[in-house]
Amino acid sequence: MAERSINIVAIKGSVRPNNYTEMALALVLDEFSNHSGVKVELFDPAVMHLYPPGLGGDNPDPARMREAVIEATGIVLATPEYHGSFSSIMKLAIENLGFPSVMSGKPVSLLGVAAGAIGAIKSLESLRGVCSHVGAIVLPGPVSVANCREVFNEDGTCNDERTEKRIRGVATNMMHYIEDNICPRVSLEAMVRGEDLPEC
Ligand SMILES: Cc1cc2nc3c(=O)[nH]c(=O)nc-3n(C[C@H](O)[C@H](O)[C@H](O)COP(=O)(O)O)c2cc1C
Repeated sequence: MAERSINIVAIKGSVRPNNYTEMALALVLDEFSNHSGVKVELFDPAVMHLYPPGLGGDNPDPARMREAVIEATGIVLATPEYHGSFSSIMKLAIENLGFPSVMSGKPVSLLGVAAGAIGAIKSLESLRGVCSHVGAIVLPGPVSVANCREVFNEDGTCNDERTEKRIRGVATNMMHYIEDNICPRVSLEAMVRGEDLPEC
């Protein structure tokens, strides 16, 4: 039986040095690494050239990210809560995914990180709205991290077991969705074509 191949694209929505969104996202990526046959590609706008639509000329970064999303089995968006919404850099990344968006039809898991006690509820709700608008399948159970400066240590480790488990759930939730909804379809299509049955 062929090895399964699941491609995950993760996009980080904070470009602040030592940002907490990256610390939380690192746990999600680590959780994906516990699953066989899963490749994760991280897009970090801090080291990319992203411009508003109409600017940027021939810069290849947006095309590269769009290609990765087209090939992706699933997408993880991680955003900080800024002024009661998701970050402008996350919106810029989404705008660089085209119109119509290559996110259309893709399962998307959301992670929000906030310094405040109420967490990133508002940013997750507005990010969900945008993702749904462009046709993505937003998975239930977005994860909001509250009081991020208390639950993460300076070295990026999480000191709260329950919070860490919830954050890792972003990856397991996506894996369950893919294994339940996408892998069976891929296997069926391979069977119809008379090919070896891949796991996914
Ligand atoms: C411009 C700006 C606006 C912010 N607005 C909020 C907010 O509305 N609610 C909140 O809980 N934290 C707010 N914060 C704090 C962030 O949630 C905090 O920086 C947290 O660490 C997540 O962002 P980071 O990933 O960039 O570190 C804000 C931070 C910045 C820089």
